[in-house]
Amino acid sequence: MSSTIDDHPAGPASGPVVASTRDELRAARESLTSRDVAVVMTMGALHDGHAQLVRRARAEHDHVIVTIFLNPLQFGPKEDLSRYPRTFDADMAICTDAGVDIVFAPTPDVIYPDGDPGVRVSAGPLGTVLEGQSRPGHFDGMLTVVGKLLHLSAARTAYFGQKDAQQLLLIRRMVRDLDFLVDVVAVPTVREEDGLAMSSRNTYLTESDREVALCLSRALQAGADAAAYGPSAIRRAAREVLVEEPLALVDYLVLVHPTTLSDVPEWYRGEALLAVAARVGTTRLIDNTPVLVGPGGGRLDVFSPETTAASAPIR
Ligand code: PAJ
Repeated sequence: MSSTIDDHPAGPASGPVVASTRDELRAARESLTSRDVAVVMTMGALHDGHAQLVRRARAEHDHVIVTIFLNPLQFGPKEDLSRYPRTFDADMAICTDAGVDIVFAPTPDVIYPDGDPGVRVSAGPLGTVLEGQSRPGHFDGMLTVVGKLLHLSAARTAYFGQKDAQQLLLIRRMVRDLDFLVDVVAVPTVREEDGLAMSSRNTYLTESDREVALCLSRALQAGADAAAYGPSAIRRAAREVLVEEPLALVDYLVLVHPTTLSDVPEWYRGEALLAVAARVGTTRLIDNTPVLVGPGGGRLDVFSPETTAASAPIR
């Protein structure tokens, strides 16, 4: 973890090798000079949040594979699969700049040659709360493709954003529960200057939606600022910001335990996840911050190793 970019090759000067089939990916992997390979999985429409994951992976490993795959399995029938932004050329430019070795960009028929897979990963109870409540089946579809891409990339380390906190937790759980031989690294949420968490879905926001959307990050900051005073103070401070913005239709605002996702009780002290989801215009947005609850508490970038140990692989 203490390595710097100088310890690792800068990536191919000619840009990444693009693989779109299993055979092409295998051939590209075999041409890598070291086994120290990291993977960053994305659905494309890359922004600086994705780029930050790639930069971390690039700095800490000899080789980086980026996957670009808009996974139909994790979208519900009424969700935004058909309007999800597709910006492959710009994505390639970002990957080239960031020194990515291989871009794996398969089509759905490569990943699911027999159509929807009969066998899938089940996210279990943690997949039915928060995001899972509004998006039934989403996390099963997400874990299924993450599992497949971990196998196909054969990477030792995988980087995921704290922005999708429940996704990150479920990936950690899958890795532990199903004995995947991979280290999962969490990267802090990258934000616009005004605090809005970067997201491919921000392109759906109109100018006025974007103003409204700022209440999410403001609510999280207000909650984190009240961290010293305990759970109800945190929830109250965050809620007060959200009620000032009636155009944000709040789905949930919760302060939960980082590994069980259960509401923390009033006596709780320690790390917790303050998370919010709201619809703004036609767009569903999520944001969160890890917080340390109790005296001297406040906002955290990511959870501590002690907290995530509960969902780390058993070696
Ligand atoms: P996608 O939304 O493209 O995100 C890819 C990765 O980038 C995820 O790990 C996500 O948490 C991270 N990310 C997105 N916005 C971020 C931000 N503002 N700051 C830091 N990291 C950010 O998440 C998915 O794709 C898919 O579910 C996937 C894991 C690829 C499986 O299909």
